[in-house]
Amino acid sequence: MQPDILFQTLAFRNLSVKNRVFRSNISGRFDNYDGSGTQARINWELKFARGGVGAIISSFVPVSIRGRILPNYATIHRDEAIPFWRRLGEQVHDHDCRYILQLSHAGRQQDAGGVENLGKKALSSTSRTESFHGFQCSAMTTAEIKSTIQDFAAGARRARTAGLDGIELHGANGYLITQFLSSGINDRRDEYGGSLENRARFVLEVVRAIRQEVGADFHLQMKISAVDDNNAVIPWEKRGNTLEDSIQICQWLEAAGVDAIHVSAGSLFPHPRNPMGGFPAEDVLRAYDSIISSGLYTLRNFLLLSSPPGRMIFRLLWKRAQGKIIEGVNVTNARAIKQAVTVPVICTGGFQTASVIRRVISAGDCDAVSIARSLIANPDLVQIFASGQDRPSNPCTYCNKCLVNVLENPLGCYEVSRFGGDYDAMIREVMSVFETTGFE
Ligand SMILES: Cc1cc2nc3c(=O)[nH]c(=O)nc-3n(C[C@H](O)[C@H](O)[C@H](O)COP(=O)(O)O)c2cc1C
Repeated sequence: MQPDILFQTLAFRNLSVKNRVFRSNISGRFDNYDGSGTQARINWELKFARGGVGAIISSFVPVSIRGRILPNYATIHRDEAIPFWRRLGEQVHDHDCRYILQLSHAGRQQDAGGVENLGKKALSSTSRTESFHGFQCSAMTTAEIKSTIQDFAAGARRARTAGLDGIELHGANGYLITQFLSSGINDRRDEYGGSLENRARFVLEVVRAIRQEVGADFHLQMKISAVDDNNAVIPWEKRGNTLEDSIQICQWLEAAGVDAIHVSAGSLFPHPRNPMGGFPAEDVLRAYDSIISSGLYTLRNFLLLSSPPGRMIFRLLWKRAQGKIIEGVNVTNARAIKQAVTVPVICTGGFQTASVIRRVISAGDCDAVSIARSLIANPDLVQIFASGQDRPSNPCTYCNKCLVNVLENPLGCYEVSRFGGDYDAMIREVMSVFETTGFE
């Protein structure tokens, strides 16, 4: 009998992972306001380590306070963070699971900067106001670019010192690295803007600075939006990078020392194609009020969402911009990138069925998949697959309620139908991360 590809080890240049299912980047506002981590985050990650995923890729971890999306996410912006990440990594390792930390900077895509950033414009590649929420920003000076590159390098050093298994650059979904890469966002006229080569300069300098800091033998991967599709949501925006642009960027990244590519989509977050699924307008309305003061158009959006016709418009626009496939939505792009690089490729987007995952890996479309929402719904998904079941009996509905609640609530599955309509049972599950086993 052929060995099951799902459970075969994946060997990167500097890292070995026991199977082909990675937990994709997700977490909630579990931590302290100052960026110090809590037992709740560790409990959250342990759900998936126990459930059998080969590796966990952390959520957005800011390399500086200026670069965070929301407060109450653990950061890696100072050496004092190292013991927390070490403790988290050790507990994840107890379950034979690897831990990859996502080094991130929001750029202008900052939902709530927090009191430390009050009165400071977010730093970006551009000074152009973001067009959906109206987040204001200021184009980085060369000195700010150089110091942000050093923030990424210092974050990488801290992750390595903490004994973690690798790092991922958040170069996807519209955050700072995308703001440099994207032809639809980057309007600079200096050596960091204009041609593709110039737009890629920032991320390539980040990679080189990281390699200088941590050496060549520490796993480094990059999450990239293969296609920007800026205009899928905002028709008057420029379309942004094409697949061909991204393929070239991935080849440069590989040459600069990146060990794997993680393929995503869209140059803002969320985006109708990321994560693919529903637009839970009532949940959006409940959570969106918390960021009304963050952007020039947030109040407009909130008022539109407050009226049934407005909600209908949002739903229609969201649906119109989606394709039909949810499971494996990025597979075609992952395949094209895989054909152009020699490092392994991880594909994110909708995976929930063992036979589908087996098929895409066996076909050579990617080497592994990363899963977010279906693991929120069933953290033991890999064990479900190992027991021979092709799909969980109580699957993720792709409603996206987890996603929109994250603005102000603890992350978890907020689809009450999955709990037989029992709201209290759903909240008990959401709150289970706060059980303080191991708290010092
Ligand atoms: C609640 C939530 C939070 C997320 N946070 C991040 C993040 O911090 N960094 C990131 O790269 N992607 C983030 N994502 C995107 C996921 O990692 C994943 O790539 C995307 O949801 C598609 O996978 P899925 O269809 O399995 O959910 C988030 C998604 C969700 C639903």
